[in-house]
Amino acid sequence: MPELDFDGHNTLYATHGLHAYAAKCPPQLVRYGLRYYSKPGETVMDPMAGSGTTLVEARLMGRNVIGYDLDPLARLIAQVKSRIVTSKEIDAGYEAVIRYTESDLKTIESRSRAASAIRRAQPPDFSGRDYWFHQEVSTKLALLSYHIAGAEMAEDVRQFLWVAFSSLILAKTSVANARDIVHSRHHYFEHARTPDVIVKFKSRVKQMRKQMAEFAAGCRMAPTARATARLGDIRNMRHSNESVDLVFTSPPYVTALDYSRAHFLAVAWMNRAFQISLEEYKESGKNYIGTECGTTSKKFAVDEMLEEIPSAKLALKSLAKRSPRHAKLTQRYFLDMHKSFEQIRRVLKDGRHAILVVCPSHIRKVVVPTQTVYVDMCQSLGLHLKQQCTRRISNRKRILPYMQKAFGKRMSTEYVLVFQKVS
Ligand SMILES: C[S@@+](CC[C@H](N)C(=O)[O-])C[C@H]1O[C@@H](n2cnc3c(N)ncnc32)[C@H](O)[C@@H]1O
Repeated sequence: MPELDFDGHNTLYATHGLHAYAAKCPPQLVRYGLRYYSKPGETVMDPMAGSGTTLVEARLMGRNVIGYDLDPLARLIAQVKSRIVTSKEIDAGYEAVIRYTESDLKTIESRSRAASAIRRAQPPDFSGRDYWFHQEVSTKLALLSYHIAGAEMAEDVRQFLWVAFSSLILAKTSVANARDIVHSRHHYFEHARTPDVIVKFKSRVKQMRKQMAEFAAGCRMAPTARATARLGDIRNMRHSNESVDLVFTSPPYVTALDYSRAHFLAVAWMNRAFQISLEEYKESGKNYIGTECGTTSKKFAVDEMLEEIPSAKLALKSLAKRSPRHAKLTQRYFLDMHKSFEQIRRVLKDGRHAILVVCPSHIRKVVVPTQTVYVDMCQSLGLHLKQQCTRRISNRKRILPYMQKAFGKRMSTEYVLVFQKVS
């Protein structure tokens, strides 16, 4: 059995540390999968790519890689982390943004208070804005976002600066009045001194520029490999049949994380980047696999297809006794994952592999053996289980909100399942 804990390993090399993300995969685990189940020049896919750990590793190892995610912020982070931009290109865009922002701030502070600068410093209107953001922070965020969107620069650089911008808010130490904001439930936090957004932005870009240079150097051995991050739903991916040599993915947990809720404090400032309103973004969150939104009625019945999957049926029946609502949410999760496995099988070439990283759950104190349900569903679809390994999850490394009272004991073992497509 390979040793896959990677406790104490550096997980933030190259661009892996560009932006925080909940339930990130350790890059060393992806590297292990890619090394044993793919070759340089082949095509790897992560259909639930999150912040793009698979994309970065594949690119560093000379594989072509494609990632999908439903979340626009995830797609943006994944694309920026896996595409090279040079320090020279970054500097040109960054200096323009800083120049315009500082000039507007000066104008606003001076007696002239030009109407146009005041208009540019107008923050977006959203519920809770003045609770989560100090007024001075809001002014500076508004100006930065205005100039990142509008200053002349290459699109790759603009995306890089949007990630720097978002990382000021979605961080352990955020410029918002919140801490541990990567968790899906934000905790209010009063800063002793109002954070200086511009100083922080400058230092983030400087650090990210170094990380990007390290990534670019790592890619020099395989300059022709390509990484593409797309916005898309795994349940109906527009991707050619039998075109992928390896799938590597870590799907969302059952109802434990709500990505759109976790991200909204940054997305609220980024409608120029995503071209969607905050309301639309929040609405789209109801469609994410594993979300807690929806289903309130008291009645529950096991779905016909899941009746044939004993592990799923057993877990759902135990859960229904405690909470029919959670049984329904879990059932919806299983059905969504079944559709996802059908798609994974469809895009994989014959004889090739899919690696799934999965953690069982405790829901309302009922153990839900998600890994066994995955195995039963995949085998029924013609994905043959070839290897099953376990790894210990370090509580320090995996960022998960946790409410022991509601869920029961914290799960500390994760499963790495390797399936082979058989015809
Ligand atoms: C556990 S995270 C992946 C983390 C990733 N391995 C990383 O290292 O950053 C699961 C991802 O699945 C995405 N997701 C949820 N529903 C999806 C769907 N229907 N199609 C594609 N992605 C989806 C979420 O937005 C989230 O980014």
